[in-house]
Amino acid sequence: MAISKFSIRKIFTLGLVSLLVCGELLSNTRIGIATYAVPITNGDTSPESSSTSSTPAIMVSPADDTQFKFWVKYASAAYCNVEGWNCGVACQGVTAQTRLLQYFDQTVNKAYVAANDQKKSIVVAFRGTADIEGFMQDSQFYLTDYPGITGAKIHAGFLNTFQMINKNVTNFVKEIVPKYPGYNVILTGHSLGGAMAILQLLEFVNIPGLSRDNLFVYTYGEPRIGNDVFAKYVENLRINIFRVVNKNDLIPHLPPRAFTYIQHSPEFFVHSNNTMFECPVAEDINCSNSLTPNFDLIAHANYFDTAFVITCLAKK
Ligand SMILES: *[C@@H]1O[C@H](CO)[C@@H](O)[C@H](O)[C@H]1NC(C)=O
Ligand SMILES: *[C@@H]1O[C@H](CO)[C@@H](O)[C@H](O)[C@H]1NC(C)=O
Ligand SMILES: *[C@@H]1O[C@H](CO)[C@@H](O)[C@H](O)[C@H]1NC(C)=O
Repeated sequence: MAISKFSIRKIFTLGLVSLLVCGELLSNTRIGIATYAVPITNGDTSPESSSTSSTPAIMVSPADDTQFKFWVKYASAAYCNVEGWNCGVACQGVTAQTRLLQYFDQTVNKAYVAANDQKKSIVVAFRGTADIEGFMQDSQFYLTDYPGITGAKIHAGFLNTFQMINKNVTNFVKEIVPKYPGYNVILTGHSLGGAMAILQLLEFVNIPGLSRDNLFVYTYGEPRIGNDVFAKYVENLRINIFRVVNKNDLIPHLPPRAFTYIQHSPEFFVHSNNTMFECPVAEDINCSNSLTPNFDLIAHANYFDTAFVITCLAKK
């Protein structure tokens, strides 16, 4: 089974040219995410450090911690061809009893909808295979109007990618929600897939029967999606969104603040000693921003015990 290229090169970060070379991950040949700490020059010009606020970080409860480590398996499976739910490690263990309901394979953007009956959950997971490498070059940080919300702007490439799949997913979930009374709907995704999950959430909040009581989002290494108006809109939905950031993962800090991108709150941060903290305010200096500028992609490729992408290759 072919795994498409997942690589990130020539990342311009914080408005300063810094070259980050990432090994390409190809099929079952070479798995080498070789990363160099991003050489960002010091100085107060860094928008990462200048416009952050600070509130005390809160320890994450063991119950939430358990959830983060559970749903990450589904985010990981989104990198695989999940047909038959036979996709290697990501389709085994705690996810083994999953029933695939629909696989959406649009080449550029992939997603699946599955049921976990023990958890009484419908899982909607995104891969977002589109070229995050391309999206993360500063020539590609174009913002475009987010339809329907005055002043909200998001990454144009993210919106285009999302629109390839969003109607199919929305229609499918709208149809099945009444058939699964008492089930939660869980949106999840890693990296660009996390951005797709958030954009899909904005559609799901309009589906009858879905509300903050049964709709939950778990994203891992989600990039910044858009501007402050967009971030506030997401926050004001009051949906339980768990945006998990592993240590010094670079991607949640891109595109740079200098391009008016900002994360949405809250942030759930995996400290280097693996303790998890919640920062209720977005871009808080006490969570991952505390590690500026020492970000890399090694922390992006692995969340908890899940190594994204390679999970598909590790067959039983
Ligand atoms: C949050 O950051 C501020 C400023 O760096 C620091 O004084 C404070 O101790 C931090 N709080 C926690 C809980 O880490
Ligand atoms: C998505 O919807 C289009 C029509 O809008 C359809 O042609 C296509 O087959 C659908 N794909 C999937 C995977 O359902
Ligand atoms: C990890 O580090 C944080 C912040 O320094 C600290 O509050 C926490 O107690 C540490 N946890 C462990 C298990 O060492």
